[in-house]
Amino acid sequence: MGMKRPVMERVIGTSELKSGERRSVFVDDIPALVIRIEDQYFVVEDVCTHDGQPLTNGVIQDCAIVCPRHSAKFDLKTGKALCMPATEAIKVFRTEIRDGAVWASP
Ligand code: FES
Repeated sequence: MGMKRPVMERVIGTSELKSGERRSVFVDDIPALVIRIEDQYFVVEDVCTHDGQPLTNGVIQDCAIVCPRHSAKFDLKTGKALCMPATEAIKVFRTEIRDGAVWASP
């Protein structure tokens, strides 16, 4: 018996976002943000680990997103908290590009 791999969900068509744009989505019923930077797509949980603020409208800088509330910054590739006041990473979903769409799973 192997570990069951979580099912990939179709998140958005690749052409629906331009570089620098984002969209609020749900992955496995978890509020998430899909962000395109150049030809890379990142899907991250849309909740700051510091105090629960949605990151939805956070500024995107150097492949990181800044929490609009107290300016914690999270790496979009790893989820790692890059500065205070957050210390815990945000969740980054596994992604795949296929059939002209972005797919993600928890
Ligand atoms: S809630 Fe995000 S930094 Fe405080």
